[in-house]
Amino acid sequence: MKVGGARFVFCLSLLPLIFLLPVMASDHAHLSVDVSRGGAKIDRNLFGQFAENLGHGLYEGIWVGADSSIPNTRGIRNDVVTALRALRVPNVRWPGGCFGDEYHWRNGIGPAGQRPATINAAWGDVVDTNSFGTHEFMDFIEQIGSHAYVSVNVGSGTPREAADWLEYMTAAQPTALAKERAANGHPAPYDVGFLGIGNESWGCGGNMSADYYLSQLKIYSHFVRNDNPGQQGANHMLKIAVGPGVPRTEWTETIMKEWQGHDWSRNIDGLSLHWYTVPKGWPPSTPSTGFGMEDYARSLKSTLFMDEFLRQQETVMDKYDPQKKVALVVDEWGAWYAPLPGTNPHFLVQQNSLRDALLASLNLNIFARHADRVRMANIAQMVNVLQSMILTDKEKMVLTPTYYVYKMYVPFQDATFLPVAFDAGTYQQGTVNLPRLDALAARDSSGKLWLEITNLDPEKLVDIDAEISGEKIRSVKAETLTASAVDSVNTFSVPGTVVPRPISAKIEGARLALTVAPKSVTVIALEP
Ligand code: AHR
Repeated sequence: MKVGGARFVFCLSLLPLIFLLPVMASDHAHLSVDVSRGGAKIDRNLFGQFAENLGHGLYEGIWVGADSSIPNTRGIRNDVVTALRALRVPNVRWPGGCFGDEYHWRNGIGPAGQRPATINAAWGDVVDTNSFGTHEFMDFIEQIGSHAYVSVNVGSGTPREAADWLEYMTAAQPTALAKERAANGHPAPYDVGFLGIGNESWGCGGNMSADYYLSQLKIYSHFVRNDNPGQQGANHMLKIAVGPGVPRTEWTETIMKEWQGHDWSRNIDGLSLHWYTVPKGWPPSTPSTGFGMEDYARSLKSTLFMDEFLRQQETVMDKYDPQKKVALVVDEWGAWYAPLPGTNPHFLVQQNSLRDALLASLNLNIFARHADRVRMANIAQMVNVLQSMILTDKEKMVLTPTYYVYKMYVPFQDATFLPVAFDAGTYQQGTVNLPRLDALAARDSSGKLWLEITNLDPEKLVDIDAEISGEKIRSVKAETLTASAVDSVNTFSVPGTVVPRPISAKIEGARLALTVAPKSVTVIALEP
């Protein structure tokens, strides 16, 4: 492949001292997309999100209450809903996280004034008014046009409590719980697309051993049912078991070995996995803003471990499930940095920079390359928490660089993966070695081709020469997300620093030519 050496443009002075000044450096890279060999579907659920009851993620970030002066629809912020609709969020996981195994759903239904105040011990002993409960979550899901991924309480709840919740949400028959739902304002059953059976049951979800969790899983997966008549058969709710949070395989072995012998009375459709990018290990100490090149490179290096983690789990899953019936569900992932100074450390508040945009694109590309097994993922989290899409401060809202990556990737939802061959080259920062480029290609259902190129090098442009073999391309459009520094951010007062901008790209026959900026995410639309 043709990744050449650096090309420098020199400024020569005629003075006795000759200055050699590198004005701009660039490399070349050749890519080739094979349109004849379509791979797995890049499931739209890979672009799912996580909205835990944590810090200002729900309260203030999504829910302000109907009496708020912040424009809202039935208590849910209009600005946030409009922004999220544009992302076509396929599913939202709620209410936790660690919060989920402390959540008792009955506290969050009924007339708002009569709901009990409870303590949220998972994240900072906050008093929860329970104003945002089941009906408010479902209203939010409907307003943004998404699907519910409800995570039930296995740690401190009971199978009966979880089964009742599901009946309350989904029963169409005139049962007492369905009537109670109707009396609370929703006669029609809700759709619950995904059911999480516990959360991190090896840790905050109950400190269980794999065997103990397995015994719970068998009970919950049998008794916690979806009664919605529209969600039976092929359209059934997918049940997702807790999986590993460390790169070891014992937990997955235990669950998958038992799954192999399952019968009609117990089944799972997915096994979850949690993996955060914590560049210097726990507790998170890397700053989310104002960091240097070493932190930049380390963060990206550390995020690339996701690929190996997935492979390791897939090897075990393939052994017990060669037909890949059980999906691997990465339902918590993202960058976890030091809390922003001055914020409550339990609220997991961090800024979101251009680095996070690149980190998001690397992970989304990894998921797409594993799309035959990895069919769902949820970035942590949606608003105001960890690597969020959106930050709010009272009536103000700002869209993060990560938000724009999700927006640029919308065309990849449910598109067919196409193999793309390229020489990634290398970018070295101190002792950290990284590939310079990453790329993803796909064809959407209308036949349009999409190519994504991430350039991790913070200094060098890369001239791309791409060959789209076997396809006649009529037109091309490209847009890039970049900024002047790897730690550039969008703020409430300057929200347009890291936003996608159109760039020029040329197509001649089957050859595409464009230059990608240093530290950038570029998405190219190719119309046959
Ligand atoms: O996303 C924050 C927390 O990280 C979740 O509550 C928990 O599941 C994980 O450890």
